[in-house]
Amino acid sequence: MQELQNQITTYEAEIKSFSPANAIDLEAYRIRFLGTKGIVKQIFSEMKNVPVAQKKEAGQLLNAFKILAEERFEAFAHLQSTETDTKESLDISLPGVAIPLGTRHPLRMVENKIVSIFEKLGFSIATGPEVEDDWHNFTSLNMPENHTARDMQDTFYVASNPDWVLRTHTSSAQARVMERGELPVRVICPGRVYRNETISARAHCFFHQCEGLYVDKGVSFADLKQTLYYFVTEMFGAETKVRFRPSYFPFTEPSAEMDISCTVCGGSGCGLCKHTGWVEILGCGMVHPNMLRNFEIDPEIYTGFAFGMGVERITQIKYQVNDLRLYSQNDVRFLRQFQSIE
Ligand code: DAH
Repeated sequence: MQELQNQITTYEAEIKSFSPANAIDLEAYRIRFLGTKGIVKQIFSEMKNVPVAQKKEAGQLLNAFKILAEERFEAFAHLQSTETDTKESLDISLPGVAIPLGTRHPLRMVENKIVSIFEKLGFSIATGPEVEDDWHNFTSLNMPENHTARDMQDTFYVASNPDWVLRTHTSSAQARVMERGELPVRVICPGRVYRNETISARAHCFFHQCEGLYVDKGVSFADLKQTLYYFVTEMFGAETKVRFRPSYFPFTEPSAEMDISCTVCGGSGCGLCKHTGWVEILGCGMVHPNMLRNFEIDPEIYTGFAFGMGVERITQIKYQVNDLRLYSQNDVRFLRQFQSIE
């Protein structure tokens, strides 16, 4: 037992003064003390020679010694060489892995273009929430409860509160701007809208619109026509013609729909224009006096025009996309085709 004690004391001194300079020193230490034929193992094997009465004391001594040897090793573990260090080295001549470049979504590109054209005319961006209340989506837009025009759009109602809807058009953003009570107003409102439609190539339950609103003293239908004509020439080119057809919207009077000469066939007739030479692109009109009154704007002093267009429709005409579902399927074969465009 005494001999064992002496041995341990000697080794303890060696362990405590051990201070490796590198991984090789550390490995040598590991083999000497902790290896399968190392000192710790060897000393533990001496246990069998210790008299039974002293086994307990000897056991404690040995365990403490083992822990000391292990802890010293752990203290320098950071010096250990990893496999990568020794077996692999960095080859900086290897070609890198190319990270594919994303593209802007075609709808976003077209929306940006629409907005920037109107910004040049002094319009600023305004937005509103996609979950709207009845007042902003319908009632304030001259569509009181039971108004038949509400049926023009199939509405999604919020189940827990039918006063709330998913907005059916961005015209609700007009209402939000007018209620601010700051005049004049000259805004363009892009955003997503929802309708309860069965999804097909020609209809979707969500799509995008851009609404425009200009209210000031002396705004006329001529201003509306000139503004939209400017938009068309910037968007589709100077050779594009426009025409206005009388229409009906509850929030405008008079109301019109605007067509442009077909950008695909130039007017001679094709699938896009259904052989008429014209394609419809938006609804518009002079803001209805009732709507101005709803926001305490005096229609005797102020007049305004408004318009609303579908971003998918403009994109369809510009890039001949003939299936609305493509916009939300995230198919990179579709999206990559817009890589080189704006
Ligand atoms: N809100 C109409 C729709 O979703 C589009 C529209 C028509 C907007 C005429 C207007 C407008 O601002 O004046 O079909």
